[in-house]
Parts: sequence; structure tokens; C-alpha cells
Amino acid sequence: MQRFTNRVVLVTGAGSGIGRAAAVRIGAEGGSVFCVDVSQAGLDETVASITAAGGAATGQCCDVSDEAQVRAAVAACVAQYGSLYALVNMAGILRFDDTDAMPTDSWARVIAVNLTGTMILCREVLPHLIATRGSIVNAASTAALAGLPCGAAYSASKGGVLAMTRSIAVEFAKRGVRANCVCPGDINSGMTTDIVWPPNMDFELIGRISSLSGPKEAEVMAGVIAMLASEDAVHITGEDIRVDGGTLS
Ligand SMILES: NC(=O)c1ccc[n+]([C@@H]2O[C@H](COP(=O)([O-])OP(=O)(O)OC[C@H]3O[C@@H](n4cnc5c(N)ncnc54)[C@H](O)[C@@H]3O)[C@@H](O)[C@H]2O)c1
Repeated sequence: MQRFTNRVVLVTGAGSGIGRAAAVRIGAEGGSVFCVDVSQAGLDETVASITAAGGAATGQCCDVSDEAQVRAAVAACVAQYGSLYALVNMAGILRFDDTDAMPTDSWARVIAVNLTGTMILCREVLPHLIATRGSIVNAASTAALAGLPCGAAYSASKGGVLAMTRSIAVEFAKRGVRANCVCPGDINSGMTTDIVWPPNMDFELIGRISSLSGPKEAEVMAGVIAMLASEDAVHITGEDIRVDGGTLS
């Protein structure tokens, strides 16, 4: 499949995990991929994978919660490639805190990156997506749909992403822009291997959100994200697709 030939896709969180897998897939399908992440090393690896396979990719270091950096990244993308067809918004962080001892700055950082950062990207690319009748794929989570113990900040951020994406879908439908979410669950990535648990974490509670068939690699997300970003999903907007091995079924 070459669904992204002559199309430009900006992927955030492209330096690792699901964002990287999506960037590699879109590059393999002919897209020019503008990769954004806070990790320069992660970006270098992703861009190298795409270009080694014959694809087109550029990396730009950017903190998605910083408006000036996001504006600069979107401007650089459009200056380099001339247009923008899709935004794949995968940058995110996960922190666990006991809610009855939640540090306000921990809450604020999770909201700033996962929710505000996702909004800033959407806002900045929308004029370009209107021009190409393009689309947005945001990263929500199963944590937006079911309780994540000690994950109040993360769950709130992902519930916000889900609701915001539906709003954008309705607001921009007449202007030809689609907006959808993926809700991953139990995907092996930097996020899931580097977890710092609160002291005395009750792991029985975590079992409720573990997938029936075991964790999967980030590549299982790539085809779903590429489908939603592409014209295969021309009549899908405001939707959220759970990719969780049936955990919440
Ligand atoms: N892995 C899972 O099981 C799972 C489940 C539900 C939702 N998600 C969501 O999927 C998305 C991708 O996560 P992943 O599992 O691939 O994790 P990951 O940690 O492998 O990738 C996240 C990437 O985002 C980048 N990032 C973090 N903060 C950033 C910032 N401020 N600005 C720019 N980039 C930043 C990181 O450097 C990293 O490369 C996230 O939004 C995450 O919340 C993942």
C-alpha cells in the first residue's frame, strides 16, 4: 500500500514506541514524515530507519507543551515539504501518583504534555489540514475509558484528549478535516518499561487493565494509525479505536 505518496505527515512522539512505529509505517507507504520529539537520539534513530528503507523523513527536536517550539516545528515542516496532510499526535508521558498525595506539579506536567500539547499541535496544524482536507490521529488510552489506579492525572489527560478530538471532529467536519483517536492498551514501549510505581502499589488493581493475550509490540498500532490518517478512513471522524487485545471488551 502507498496511501501517503505525495503526502506530508507530522508525527509527534516519533522518537520511540508507537509514534516511531507509525512514522516508519507512513514512510514505508510513501509519505514524507516530519518527526517531532524531545529526544534527539530517538529522532535520529527513527529518521535513519525511514531513510534506510528508501523513505523521506526529517527530525526536529520539540517539546509539544512549548507553543513557540511547536510553531517553529510546524513552520519548518511546511517550509520543507510545502503542505501538511496529517498529524499523528503520539507524544505523551505517564506518571503514577497516589491521588491522596498528588504533587500538583506532577499533575500539571502530565496535563501540559498529554492534553495541552496535543491541543497546541492540533491548533497549529489545522489551517494546513483544511487546505489539504487532511486528518488528525490523537493518542488517547484505555485509561480514558476505565479507571487507572494511581493514574488520575494520566487518565484525566487522556479523557480530555478523547473529548477534545470529538469536538474537533464536529467543528471541522464541514471544512473536510477528520479527527480520530486511538486508545492503546498494553503496548511495549519506553513508557511501559520505565514505569516508576508509587510505594505500596496494589498490583492486583493494575491486573484489571492488562490485556488477555499479553502485551504487544508498538508495530501493532501502526496499521490502525495509518488507516485512520489515510483516505481509507474518509467517512470516519470523531471515532476512538481501542487497540488493547480485548481488555475492555
Ligand atoms: N504503551 C501503551 O500501552 C500505551 C497505552 C495507552 C496510551 N499510550 C499513548 O501512546 C502514546 C505513545 O506512547 P508510547 O507507548 O509509544 O511511549 P514512548 O515513551 O515509547 O513514546 C512517547 C514519546 O513521546 C516523547 N515525548 C515525551 N514528552 C514529550 C514532549 N513534551 N514533547 C515531545 N515529545 C515528547 C518521548 O520522548 C517518546 O519518544 C502516548 O501518548 C501514550 O500516552 C500508550
